[in-house]
Amino acid sequence: MSKIFDALRKAEAEQRPVTPMPAFTPEPVPSSEDGLLARPLPESIHRELATLRNSIELVVPRKNKVIAFAGAVRGEGTSTLASAYARFLAQEMGTRVLLVDADLTGEGERLSAGPLALAEGFLQVVENGLPAGRAVRSFEGNGPHFLPSGGHSLQTMQVFAAERTRELLRDLGVMYDVVVIDSAPVTLYPEVPVLLSQTDGVVLIVQAERTRREAAQRAMNRLTSAGCNVIGAVMNRRRNVVPGFLYRRV
Ligand SMILES: Nc1ncnc2c1ncn2[C@@H]1O[C@H](COP(=O)(O)OP(=O)(O)OP(=O)(O)O)[C@@H](O)[C@H]1O
Ligand SMILES: [Mg+2]
Repeated sequence: MSKIFDALRKAEAEQRPVTPMPAFTPEPVPSSEDGLLARPLPESIHRELATLRNSIELVVPRKNKVIAFAGAVRGEGTSTLASAYARFLAQEMGTRVLLVDADLTGEGERLSAGPLALAEGFLQVVENGLPAGRAVRSFEGNGPHFLPSGGHSLQTMQVFAAERTRELLRDLGVMYDVVVIDSAPVTLYPEVPVLLSQTDGVVLIVQAERTRREAAQRAMNRLTSAGCNVIGAVMNRRRNVVPGFLYRRV
C-alpha cells in the first residue's frame, strides 16, 4: 500500500478545478486541493485496487452497493484508501461512484478539506432535509462524485440512527453503482457501527505494525455485534513483505 501512497503523492502535482454537478449546483466551487479526486490514479496501483474490487465483488455481488471503509483507530489510512478506491472505480472501470465523507466527528484528517470543508453535505441532508443532489459535487474529468461531510456534529449517534440516514443511503445506493463511505474509526465512536450496519459491506483498514491486535479484534467485535457485513481487512503500509497489500477474509 505504500506504493499507492507514494504514487498518490506524485499525482498531487497536477491540479484541476472542481466543478459542481450542473443540475444541482450552478455556482462553481473554486478549489485547489479538492481537485485531487479528479486526478488520474497512477497505473502502478491499479492491480492492487483491482484485487480489492474483486474481493468486494465476491462478497457483495449485487450491482448497486454501499461499501464502507473504516479503520480500527485513527490514522490507519482509511480516507486515503477510500478515495483511491473510488477514483479507481470511476476512472478505470467506468463505474458511477459516489464518495461520501461520513466522518462527522470533526477529529482526524479531513477528506472534506479546502473549500469543501465549508460546503453543505451529509449533515445538512440528514438534519435539515437538504436534497442530496444539492450537496453532491462532481469534478472535471471522470472522477467520482463527492458528498462532503457538511461539518461536524456532537450528535452523531442521532444522525446515524436517523431514518433520514437510512433513506439517504438507500437513495444514493440506487443512484450510483457504488457508494464508498469514508468512515470515522470503529473503536473510538460507538455510533460508527450504527452507520456501518446500514451499508452492504465494511472493509476494515488496519495499519501494518501499528494497529495492535486487540484494537483490530475490538473493531471486528463491534462490527459483527452491530450486524455489519465485514468484507475483510486491508493491511495498509505493508512494505516489501508481500507484493501489493495483504487482503484476506477475516
Ligand atoms: N500507505 C501509506 N503510506 C504512507 N503514508 C500513508 C499511507 N496511507 C496513509 N498515509 C498517510 O497517513 C495519514 C493518515 O491517512 P488518512 O487520513 O488516509 O488516514 P485515516 O485513517 O483516514 O485518518 P483519520 O482517522 O484521521 O481520518 C495521512 O497523512 C496519509 O497521507
Ligand atoms: Mg479519515
